[in-house]
Amino acid sequence: MSRALPGDTPTVHDLIGIGFGPSNVAMAIALHEHNARAGRDEAVTGHFFEQQPRFGWHRGMLIDDATMQVSFLKDLVTLRNPASEFSFLCYLKSRGRLVDFINHKSLFPLRVEFHDYFEWAAAQVGDMVSYGHEVVGVTPVVRDGSDGPDGDVEFLDVTVRSGEGLEVHRTRNLVIGTGLRPLMPEGVERGDRVWHNSELLKRIDALEGQEGAAPSRFVVVGAGQSAAENVAYLSRRFPEAEVCAVFSRYGYSPADDSGFANRIFDPGAVDDYFAAPENIKRQLMDYHGNTNYSVVDIDLIDSLYRQMYQEKVLGTERLRFFNVSRLADVKETPGHVRATVQSLVTGEETALDADLVVFATGYGPSDPLGLLGETAGRCLRDEEGRVRVERDYRVATDPGLRCGIYLQGGTEHTHGITSSLLSNTAVRVGDILDSLLAGAPSEVPSGGPAPKG
Ligand code: FDA
Repeated sequence: MSRALPGDTPTVHDLIGIGFGPSNVAMAIALHEHNARAGRDEAVTGHFFEQQPRFGWHRGMLIDDATMQVSFLKDLVTLRNPASEFSFLCYLKSRGRLVDFINHKSLFPLRVEFHDYFEWAAAQVGDMVSYGHEVVGVTPVVRDGSDGPDGDVEFLDVTVRSGEGLEVHRTRNLVIGTGLRPLMPEGVERGDRVWHNSELLKRIDALEGQEGAAPSRFVVVGAGQSAAENVAYLSRRFPEAEVCAVFSRYGYSPADDSGFANRIFDPGAVDDYFAAPENIKRQLMDYHGNTNYSVVDIDLIDSLYRQMYQEKVLGTERLRFFNVSRLADVKETPGHVRATVQSLVTGEETALDADLVVFATGYGPSDPLGLLGETAGRCLRDEEGRVRVERDYRVATDPGLRCGIYLQGGTEHTHGITSSLLSNTAVRVGDILDSLLAGAPSEVPSGGPAPKG
């Protein structure tokens, strides 16, 4: 624990953001727009730290024909400020593609295009971010004269590691936007030929460039969007190779993006979810998980089915589907990997010698308070041990912790399915900014009505 000493006056930021993915880029834009409007006294100072050397949004999955699963109108700003200069439409205009995009008649841009939009937006608030800076810890700074482990914490010191060593930056508020972590099945280690799909594009060139025969077989585990994209991509990129898809479902299930179901992503749905009793929260996730989890865009399903059938007709089968199956074992051998697929119907095992096994087994939240050290002990938890988060995304803490700790992500249990998605990013950062400007910690416990700043 640090102590704020008289005469010791390092720069204190109003806000430090950890991570500079879309969530915190949107936060930086909200600050920028607020500061442009506000008088000098009301300006909010903020700085963000991003561990990557430059902006990057799931670069390993920027497959050239993959599209967004969210309308471009749910960009970094529009739902908060439709007149913003940081909108996707302004980006299109600046790239000279506005008219072409309109004629395209699609709400769903290419993923590479949205990446370029994020990068364009991030560059405009580039003075607020330090890339190549990983936040490694947070220490509470106790007000002088306020003793003991429960003393009043006035600031947080954020320790950041860069190529030049460690630096410490002081803040009144923290916005944690560190995203999701790739998940591997328990007991499976990544290796030269055992990857998570998040690494696909970073590593595939190297595989292709290796000496010896061209890859002849891939195994892709999983039945969600990423899995289906990997199957389609590998089969297209390696037209001579076999691609084996392994999953426990009978077949890929389509993502429900129909109008009524889509309302689960609305800003209003966050209010409803937050206010709902625990059993209704669970019910909502059960009903509407198929808008996002373990589901695939119907166009991609149709295209894979068409390809499989065409290959059957032509006698050139390269797509193989091991449904109602699991990967029972995976072992790397020099130059190869052996995957053992087990049927969940008969128990029969099939050994597949492959060049690569890709696990498209999803992403999960990391512990949102993992970086907080002893400060985490002053954050409140619910009966199930989950972090208590107020409607304004502020972590509920003991009253002596005067700093705000806000979460962008890791709030699915309190705020619902959009927690880790883009749908509500623009609105969420507006809520956080309002709360920051209001200043005082919220008094309303998690699950109660929304306190608005
Ligand atoms: P994100 O993970 O993007 O960014 C977090 C950042 O924090 C990273 O840049 C990371 O390097 C950095 N970081 C982590 N720890 C750090 C530390 N200690 N110090 C410094 N920096 C640190 N959603 C949607 O609504 N529509 C869509 O179409 C898609 N498409 C999509 C495709 C793919 C392939 C994936 C994997 C996911 C999606 N998503 C999505 C969901 C996805 O979670 C969402 O698009 C955003 O990535 C969420 O943005 P964040 O900024 O919260 O996290």
